[in-house]
Amino acid sequence: MDNIVVCIGKGADRENAAALAERIGAPLTDKVGEMLTLMTDASGISLLGFGMRFQGDFSRLLPRITNGRLPHEMLIHAAKPKETWLKAVDAAAGMGEDAFLLAAAGYDVTLYERNTVVAALLRDAMDRAKKDPLLKDTVGRMHFTEGDSTVLMKERNEGADLVYLDPMFPPRQKTGLVNKKLQLIQKLEQPCVDEKALFDAAVSVRPKKIIIKRPLKGAYLAGSRPSYTITGKAIRYDCYVFPEPRPDTQSAKTV
Ligand SMILES: C[S@@+](CC[C@H](N)C(=O)[O-])C[C@H]1O[C@@H](n2cnc3c(N)ncnc32)[C@H](O)[C@@H]1O
Repeated sequence: MDNIVVCIGKGADRENAAALAERIGAPLTDKVGEMLTLMTDASGISLLGFGMRFQGDFSRLLPRITNGRLPHEMLIHAAKPKETWLKAVDAAAGMGEDAFLLAAAGYDVTLYERNTVVAALLRDAMDRAKKDPLLKDTVGRMHFTEGDSTVLMKERNEGADLVYLDPMFPPRQKTGLVNKKLQLIQKLEQPCVDEKALFDAAVSVRPKKIIIKRPLKGAYLAGSRPSYTITGKAIRYDCYVFPEPRPDTQSAKTV
C-alpha cells in the first residue's frame, strides 16, 4: 500500500510492528506518515490521518447489548434468532461491530475481511476484547479470517444459518453524516464492485437467511429482490429467506 506507513510508537513490540508492515506491504517508520499511519504502541494498533485517530473498541458497543437493548437493534430484529448458537457468517466484516451484535445475540460468527489494514485493526480490537471480562464471552464467539469472502465462503463450503453482508455502499453517504471512524476507514476501502460474486458466494453457504445492509434508497445488491425489507431512518436491511431444503448455488430472483 502506498498511502500508509506502520509507525513504531511508545511501548510497541518492534517485531510485531515489522511483521505487520510486511503483511500490509507498507514501510516501517519511527514517524507518522504524510497520509495514513498505522500506529503501533502500548495501546495496540490505531489508524491515524487527516487529524483523526481511530482504534477499534468493542466496549463502546456495551450500551447497545445490555439492559434489554439488543433485541431493539435493527440487525437483530432482522435476524430474528429463535435459538442460540446458530451459525452466522459476516462476509464483509469491517471493524466487526455488526458481527459483535450478532455474537451478543448468541450467534457463532465467522468474520471475513479482505482489506489488510482493516483486518489488522479488527484483529487488534478482538485481541484486546478477549482480555476484557465484559467482552470476552461475546468476542469468543467471533472467529476471524482475513481474506476475500467471495472465495473463502465457496472454498470452505461450511453451512451457516445466516449470512450477513454489509459491503461498502456504492455512492458515498453525505460526508456530514459520516462519523470519524468511517471517514478514516473509508480512505482505505473500495466500494463493492463484485456484488454478484458476493451474493452468489453467500447463497453457496446454504443459509436459511441472507441479510444485506443497504442505503435507504439504494438498489438491491446484485439486482436481487429480497423476500422482505426492514427499513430504518438512514438504512434498510434486505432479507432473503430460503425455504428448506436449503438451496445449493441458485441465486434469488434477479430483477
Ligand atoms: C461497510 S464495511 C462493514 C462494516 C461492518 N458491518 C461493521 O459493523 O463494522 C465493509 C467491509 O467489507 C469489506 N469487504 C467488502 N467485500 C469483501 C469481500 N468480498 N471479502 C471480505 N471483505 C469484504 C471491506 O473491505 C470493508 O471493510
